[in-house]
Amino acid sequence: MYMHGCVVLFLKKPRSLKRGFCLWELNLKIVYLGDVVARSGREKVIQTISVIKNDWHWDALIVNVDNAAHGFGCTPKIARQFFEARASALVTGDHVWDQKDFTAYLNESNRIVRPLNYSDNLAGVGARVIPLDNGQKLLIAEVVGRVFMAEVASPLEKLEQLLTQYKLTDNVDAIFVDIHAEATAEKQALAHYFDGKISAIIGSHTHIPTADAMILPQGTAYQTDVGMCGDCSGVIGFKTAAPIARLKNPASNLRLEPGEGQATIHGVFIETDDKSGLAVKIVPLTY
Ligand SMILES: [Fe+2]
Ligand SMILES: [Fe+2]
Repeated sequence: MYMHGCVVLFLKKPRSLKRGFCLWELNLKIVYLGDVVARSGREKVIQTISVIKNDWHWDALIVNVDNAAHGFGCTPKIARQFFEARASALVTGDHVWDQKDFTAYLNESNRIVRPLNYSDNLAGVGARVIPLDNGQKLLIAEVVGRVFMAEVASPLEKLEQLLTQYKLTDNVDAIFVDIHAEATAEKQALAHYFDGKISAIIGSHTHIPTADAMILPQGTAYQTDVGMCGDCSGVIGFKTAAPIARLKNPASNLRLEPGEGQATIHGVFIETDDKSGLAVKIVPLTY
């Protein structure tokens, strides 16, 4: 009976202990939720966060808020709602400049990341170390793609520069990179280039989840696109009228209106090994 009791004791992970004081494995668990689109997406995410927490016991929750404000960018008020709902950090994308008052907020909050390969002269930063409640440090970075998107600096070169400052198992416990890009091949090539140096490289921006979640040969978790959190019954979270009008007439100026129906949450769960900082598990999530 005594031995049995010992076994039970040793199997239990002391998750409240900080790294350095812990003899047991302390894998880092991350949940990333794809582009939140408008009110329907916001409400569903905020209502469902405690359910996802119970299911996946994350140490870090990262939410992409690039379309959270009526489909275009984010506002400080919306960002605060996600932080109050226990988000550890927010990432953005090509719509980061859409809402005027959000630009100043990018410098106020130390838990928001905008694309790293936009000019250094613009507000905000493209990478931040987020201190987690369990004492671990998570580096979060975001880059935008260049294929079928605006002309920006090379995402590869910007990430290489970043990795001269941060190294897994050295000064950060895990590195999460969001590649906010249109082209699948660009995302795959970038992920393979950094395989083994980054814990997880997850795509966003297309709003459509891809069925290719995997751990690459050198240990980087990868999915070409995580999908979105919003009304999936239309066209990438928006009502169908404007996209169809544009199909008929490319000069159509009918405004895109976000869908108002029941939202679906698309996300991904990643677990990284405490010793290497590399991925041991990736699971796509739908709620
Ligand atoms: Fe985007
Ligand atoms: Fe988006």
